Amino acid sequence: MPEEIVIVGGGICGLSIGWFLARSGYPVTILERGGAGLAATWAAAGMLAPHAEAEPGEEGLLPLLRASRGMWADFAGELEAAAGMSVDYREEGTLVVALDRDDAARLRFLYDFQKRQNLPTEWLSGEEARRLEPHLSRRVVAAIYSPLDHQVDNRKVARALIEAFRRAGGRLREHTEVTGIVIEADRVLGVRLQRGFLEARVVVLAAGAWSAQIPGLPETVRPPVRPVKGQMLAVQMPPEAPLLRHVVWGREAYLVPRRDGRLLIGATVEEKGFDASLTAGGIFRLLRGAWEILPGIDECPIVEMWVGFRPGSRDDAPILGPTAVEGLIMATGHYRNGILLAPITAYAIHQLIVHGALPEIARPFTLDRFQRTRVVQAMSAENESARP
Ligand code: GLY
Repeated sequence: MPEEIVIVGGGICGLSIGWFLARSGYPVTILERGGAGLAATWAAAGMLAPHAEAEPGEEGLLPLLRASRGMWADFAGELEAAAGMSVDYREEGTLVVALDRDDAARLRFLYDFQKRQNLPTEWLSGEEARRLEPHLSRRVVAAIYSPLDHQVDNRKVARALIEAFRRAGGRLREHTEVTGIVIEADRVLGVRLQRGFLEARVVVLAAGAWSAQIPGLPETVRPPVRPVKGQMLAVQMPPEAPLLRHVVWGREAYLVPRRDGRLLIGATVEEKGFDASLTAGGIFRLLRGAWEILPGIDECPIVEMWVGFRPGSRDDAPILGPTAVEGLIMATGHYRNGILLAPITAYAIHQLIVHGALPEIARPFTLDRFQRTRVVQAMSAENESARP
């Protein structure tokens, strides 16, 4: 029997979509060129922070981010039950801190924006912030506290999704490269592999930063996705006396404490293609940024350093839903929000496949928004040149 649904990419979005579909009884195969959950999903920090990270210019994306945040607690609970393992969902919340007056002015601007958007954040003095986190630097003069911005251990989520997907009857084929998406008369027929062809009624492209490189996509349905490099590191805190419980954002770095005492410090944002090198400057700036906020890391051993590639789209928003090719569906371009957006991505693509339509909230994020922009740009250029 031909496989009905093929998902290209075994990251958090591909796995979540696969799990939702498999548990609804659909035959699903996920194809992953490396190991599942070992690219951007593994490199991420697991912050579920639409409120603390909200910035002017992101108003259009905010409802999707907030809706997915609202789904996370249930998603984590169901996943833990389905996989029989914990994903360390943590609810302490997030602090964004300021270290001097300029920083505090920047934070106040951000806070005013958050209040205009009715986001549930609170302004704290330095003292109040230190009452929540006693090891914060004396230099912290103010903070925004966002109690609903939680975190999850993204690596555990990936392991749980693999298990839940398999238990639901899904087929995961790792180290399997898709050498072409096969399309005929504007209809997807399946995918070509190094050995053989896999017939499919539906192909979901969820290949993260690699999505634009999959051969066989006509230009009109090639998603405008590029890699945005992020360097990160982890230090080991004493697990019995962790320096931090909340996620903390500063000007140059964010800090994410894990239950095992690891403290993640991230991340650079670099337009360097798929360059996977760790650089002295990148790691130096992260360490300086982290040390300024939390001087206690001074004695902590560095236990890991790594690089990940965020799938950045042209407008930093995800690309979700149908395309001009029948049966070809996009679930890519999640940029800095792949972990946060996994539940709503899975829900939206599941709805599309099962009921034939994207939920309202996901409709602004279809691929054709870029074509619409091109048409508007071309029309205004034409009007411009027609002016006397
Ligand atoms: N969402 C965190 C990052 O992109 O670094």
